[in-house]
Amino acid sequence: MAPATDSHPMDDPTFGLAADHYDLIQQQLIPGYGSLARLAVALLAASPLASEPGAEVLVAGCGTGAELQEAVVQRPDWRLSAIDPSAAMLAEARSRLAGAPAIDWQQTTVEQLTEAPACQGRFAGALSVLVLQSLADDGSKLAFLTGLARSLRPGGQLVLVDLMSTSLPSLEPQLASAWVGFQRASGLQAPAEQLAPLTQGLHPVGMARLTSLVNAAGFSDPARIFQALAFEGFLLQKPS
Ligand SMILES: C[S@@+](CC[C@H](N)C(=O)[O-])C[C@H]1O[C@@H](n2cnc3c(N)ncnc32)[C@H](O)[C@@H]1O
Repeated sequence: MAPATDSHPMDDPTFGLAADHYDLIQQQLIPGYGSLARLAVALLAASPLASEPGAEVLVAGCGTGAELQEAVVQRPDWRLSAIDPSAAMLAEARSRLAGAPAIDWQQTTVEQLTEAPACQGRFAGALSVLVLQSLADDGSKLAFLTGLARSLRPGGQLVLVDLMSTSLPSLEPQLASAWVGFQRASGLQAPAEQLAPLTQGLHPVGMARLTSLVNAAGFSDPARIFQALAFEGFLLQKPS
């Protein structure tokens, strides 16, 4: 099924397609997508708390399971909780991880999960890859980040990967054009009007706003770890 004509492919995490097509589309849309999960897991695995054997780790917005697949390879000792509000995405992830060690699967949001006292201060680390970008900056982003901070033990870290507003406005047209070029060169089949602009249907924020949001949520300042066009990865820490 083709994506709706008035929406961008990234509006809907399943792109109006079966969730099993999701990974291919992500690779065609997002520069570096193939490395995001591997790098995010490697970063968290090197953090002070999540480096401990048997650490409890939350994968927030697990989608089709890219981060989980990396986590079970790099850290088979981790006790993983995987959450996503989308039944289709969870089903795809469960199928992909069928042979993996036990994972605690829950169809829920971060905000709902962390209402439960048992989930507060529980995790040594968390991963949030390409989730915050889909939430409006109307209190939804803050609620999501607050839930993540609440879920962590003091000193726990979050690896956050997201689409960001550019800090280089004069280069915006060039960056947007480069993103379309990347998609085309990667073989994404879509009418021109559905490729870019970068932010259509999503809610990216700039570095200053992200810093203000994560501080209000209970994290220290975000440390940028990597960037590919407007997709950036950050390490955040809940103070000890
Ligand atoms: C673009 S996908 C990214 C999936 C995966 N992390 C990846 O990188 O392939 C975003 C996912 O976040 C989920 N999501 C949206 N809002 C969420 C929330 N408040 N809490 C947890 N997951 C959420 C969506 O259902 C979707 O599966």
